[in-house]
Amino acid sequence: MKKIRVWDPLVRVFHWSLVILFTANAFFVDDESKLHDAIGYAVVALVLMRILWGFLGSRYARFSSFPPSLSGATGQLTEIATGRKRIHVGHTPLGALMIYNLLATMLLIGLSGYLMTTDAFWGLKWPEELHEACVTWAEISVVLHILAVIYESARTKVNLPRAMVTGYKEFRVE
Ligand code: HEM
Ligand code: HEM
Repeated sequence: MKKIRVWDPLVRVFHWSLVILFTANAFFVDDESKLHDAIGYAVVALVLMRILWGFLGSRYARFSSFPPSLSGATGQLTEIATGRKRIHVGHTPLGALMIYNLLATMLLIGLSGYLMTTDAFWGLKWPEELHEACVTWAEISVVLHILAVIYESARTKVNLPRAMVTGYKEFRVE
């Protein structure tokens, strides 16, 4: 077994805080409450902090280590289809696309939520519709994200959820 430190504490705290706060607002907290707005803004703050960390953070946390790449993503699909296994120490190319999607969607949820509270946009239908559509899109994305994490963990025999807790990925050396 080879152990590599991939996720620094900030990435891990960011991830599990986002999971808790997003789930709370999407399913449990009354959406007309002040708490809903506060949790929503906390999500926006977390995402903005993560974006900053994408430039300043440790090696695998930086955006430069997982640039959005369609060729990388199709390469990974080919890899899956042909049964080849390549080790990705940090985020995989498909994982990277999902991460950019989730970060952008969280910001749009926050922005549309904020617009609903302003005098200028209060009572208009479209910010509310945008808010709901983005939340639904985020939920679909999260389901795909979790399925992909489980699938990739089984395929590559690297326990990805555990790495998001401990910070270390463990690779079999053959
Ligand atoms: C509301 C639910 C969730 C959201 C919004 C979410 C969002 C994210 C985001 C934004 C990242 C990128 C992390 C970063 O680089 O900062 C990520 C990565 C990751 N998430 Fe989640 N996540 C959710 C649920 C889960 C769950 C339940 C699991 C465990 C089964 C999980 C496992 C992972 C793993 C393993 C990675 C790293 C993937 C890789 O190795 O490339 N996530 N997630
Ligand atoms: C992760 C962040 C957030 C999530 C998951 C979320 C989720 C939701 C959901 C599921 C609804 C119900 C939509 C429906 O009626 O079908 C809602 C409504 C609403 N949200 Fe959010 N929201 C978030 C952030 C925010 C923020 C930052 C604000 C503003 C400060 C906000 C303000 C509102 C308002 C004003 C409503 C409409 C309440 C009403 O029915 O009058 N939300 N949100």
